[in-house]
Amino acid sequence: MGNGIAQVAARAGFEVVMRDISDEFLARGMKAIDKSLQRDVDKERLGSEEKNAIVGRIKTATELDALKDAFIVVEAVTENFDVKAEVFRALDTITMPDAILASNTSSISITKLGATTQRPDKVIGMHFMNPVPVMKLVEVIRGAATSDETYEKVRALSEKLGKTALDCNDYPGFVSNRVLMPMINEAIFALYEGVGTRESIDGIMKLGMNHPMGPLTLADFIGLDVCLAIINVLHDGFGDSKYRPCPLLKRYVDAGWLGRKSGRGFYEY
Ligand code: CAA
Repeated sequence: MGNGIAQVAARAGFEVVMRDISDEFLARGMKAIDKSLQRDVDKERLGSEEKNAIVGRIKTATELDALKDAFIVVEAVTENFDVKAEVFRALDTITMPDAILASNTSSISITKLGATTQRPDKVIGMHFMNPVPVMKLVEVIRGAATSDETYEKVRALSEKLGKTALDCNDYPGFVSNRVLMPMINEAIFALYEGVGTRESIDGIMKLGMNHPMGPLTLADFIGLDVCLAIINVLHDGFGDSKYRPCPLLKRYVDAGWLGRKSGRGFYEY
């Protein structure tokens, strides 16, 4: 998602530094940006020169230090609290004291991430949806200590990026995944229990509810490991058995069948 966020920021005219842990991942991110912008060039919605200018506004780096002059950092590392906390602690020492530290987390506590820094008032959730260039929403999540000023700045920034900012408070899964993941998990239970085939479950939700993708296709698109991590956050956070992950989902993740990105999930790619 990081490359999608870099793309929309550069397209809105901002100078962007896209940082990842290896040159290989950065090259993959730049390739995704190129491909996504090229769709608009092909449809004559973007000129080639404009596309080059957007790409030219994105600098890449493997060193965290490259973010030291940023007025906002949007973190999009793996969905694991310990990894995110390490990144936030490092960003807190590297960036300017008034820089905002935002997280693109889909479910991890913004309050807890804020508490790993000396500036919890400037820590906020800025949750983009996949594919970032297409989806209109940014779910803005206020932690217990997030200031009104930080919230207003992030709201205004989201709008400059061409998105609609909708806010919620910091509880497990926020609003998006509090509602989405139990539906996906229930679809997996329906498959597990033989209520329907993958095609019938997805077809019923697509044709019957007008969803653009069926829940199993969407789970593959999000990544089954990400889905499991989010469901576990709901399960642990609320201590309510209604959020227990389906054993079939755990089995797929154990097998390394993670969806689209690994070539196999509920479907083959
Ligand atoms: N970059 C730029 N444009 C893209 C794109 C990308 N990566 N992917 C698709 N598009 C554009 C296409 O060019 C096309 O544009 P036009 O209609 O203007 O010509 C449009 O999106 C539709 O694409 P397609 O015709 O190729 O395919 P589609 O109609 O099946 O749409 C989709 C694809 C937009 C992904 C659609 O299937 C969809 O909306 N799916 C649901 C996505 C969703 O639910 N996302 C949220 C997931 S949850 C999440 O992200 C957060 C979390 O915490 C888990």
